[in-house]
Amino acid sequence: APGALYPDRANSSGVEFGDRRALAALVAGMGKAVAQVDAVPLAPGVTASSPSRDVVSPHDPSQIVGTVRVATSADVDTAVATARKGFAAWSRTPAMARGAMLEKAADLLEADRDRFLSLLSREAGKTIDDGLSEIREAVDFLRYYAARGREMFSEMVPMPGPTGEDNRLGWRGRGVFACISPWNFPLAIFLGQVSAALAAGNAVIAKPAEQTPLVAHEAIRLLHAAGVPADVLICLPGEGDVGAALTRHPRIAGVAFTGSTETARAINRTLAAKDGPIVPLIAETGGLNAMIVDATALSEQVADDVVMSAFRSAGQRCSALRLLFLQDEVADQMLKMIEGAARELVLGDPALVSTDIGPVIDQAQRTMLAEHVEAMRATQTVRYQGEAPSAGLFFAPTIVELKDAASLQKEIFGPVLHVVRWKAKELDKVLEAIDATGFGLTLGVHTRIEAHVRKVVDRLDAGNVYVNRNIIGAVVGTQPFGGSGLSGTGFKAGGPHYLMRFAQEQVVSVNT
Ligand code: SER
Repeated sequence: APGALYPDRANSSGVEFGDRRALAALVAGMGKAVAQVDAVPLAPGVTASSPSRDVVSPHDPSQIVGTVRVATSADVDTAVATARKGFAAWSRTPAMARGAMLEKAADLLEADRDRFLSLLSREAGKTIDDGLSEIREAVDFLRYYAARGREMFSEMVPMPGPTGEDNRLGWRGRGVFACISPWNFPLAIFLGQVSAALAAGNAVIAKPAEQTPLVAHEAIRLLHAAGVPADVLICLPGEGDVGAALTRHPRIAGVAFTGSTETARAINRTLAAKDGPIVPLIAETGGLNAMIVDATALSEQVADDVVMSAFRSAGQRCSALRLLFLQDEVADQMLKMIEGAARELVLGDPALVSTDIGPVIDQAQRTMLAEHVEAMRATQTVRYQGEAPSAGLFFAPTIVELKDAASLQKEIFGPVLHVVRWKAKELDKVLEAIDATGFGLTLGVHTRIEAHVRKVVDRLDAGNVYVNRNIIGAVVGTQPFGGSGLSGTGFKAGGPHYLMRFAQEQVVSVNT
């Protein structure tokens, strides 16, 4: 049973996947959810008269999900000054008490599940399955970091040393952390960053993605309700200039960022150039995630895992499959199955249990995807494109066969799968092609040949390798998640070392 092996891991949603009746009951419950969220400011300086912006639903952009008062870069100074005061008290708050607040927030989130499910569906276009797993992951993050925080921060560890001297090593928070999060997991990644920074004894200024400020706002309210003081946790919804002003600020002690590699580089440059202390960047970025399928793979399993990895969540996961390498001998048969399985997918209203794939996040993403597929049409083979509903911001699952892996030069964030064939005895060339992308996030291998698994694991730097299964949905505490190279800095989210990057060490040596 969940919880037996990992006492600090939650079985948060209480609904098992695949239980359609329970899901249907949940959807009925969503009717009770709030009609609109009015995101009243959770930051000093941002007032009821600050500029406001309507947040619309990607499923039906004429539907206003709520209103948010946005911060501007001018609010950053006040926020940082306030959070610095908050930090002084928070860093002295015992780790046990900090952990208890995170646990309490997890309880509150579980109790408020239906409303969050509704918000995730309406603001982010999440299907019921995706919304549920996201809430589950968010609860898991809260509980996991609460537990790790208690372990790491409660007591200093005695170090060996000479008689007459007492040496102890401990961890403490760094100061005010900026947490900048993406729209694709507006609850789980948002709360993951925030709860890790808090558990490690930092004050936090969180800047949610422009597209998804409402879920973030509600999540912050839960943490405040659980006891985290308002000056320890501040929410600054706004545009990119707010994030830029935050990272530039000399009193920011660290940055946790999840998003594009390009933005991570820009943040790195800003941090390197600014005055004040030298601070760490914890970046989780993209991937050109590959799956290698050889002739010994089980075709039915491959079809299921490929469709799940490439198209679930409309391909809007950083872990999603982008490049599928099929061994020549089985490629035609596998492609037929994959296309057949893709044809079965239902695109539509994310709030319906029958929907497999919801909309993409906004018009800009949809345009980018359409332009990419059109560009591919000129030089590669578009083998399959499903049908998307005409209303709403949908993009249909698409399969493009490439002449070679180098024909895809960047991560395409959406439901577009690129396929490359490879010849027997040329696995080395496949590995070189994957290595040449420079990314190292997720990687899949489907094979019955153990030597192939060993070779792939030995030769590639991917952060999360999945053998004979899909490559998405890393579980907190079980599959710590994160990549290397262009994919991120480490340490892995949901892993035992993550909090270390949010903290600093101190040694106290006492002459006794
Ligand atoms: N943690 C997520 C996953 O594994 C990231 O997209 O799918």
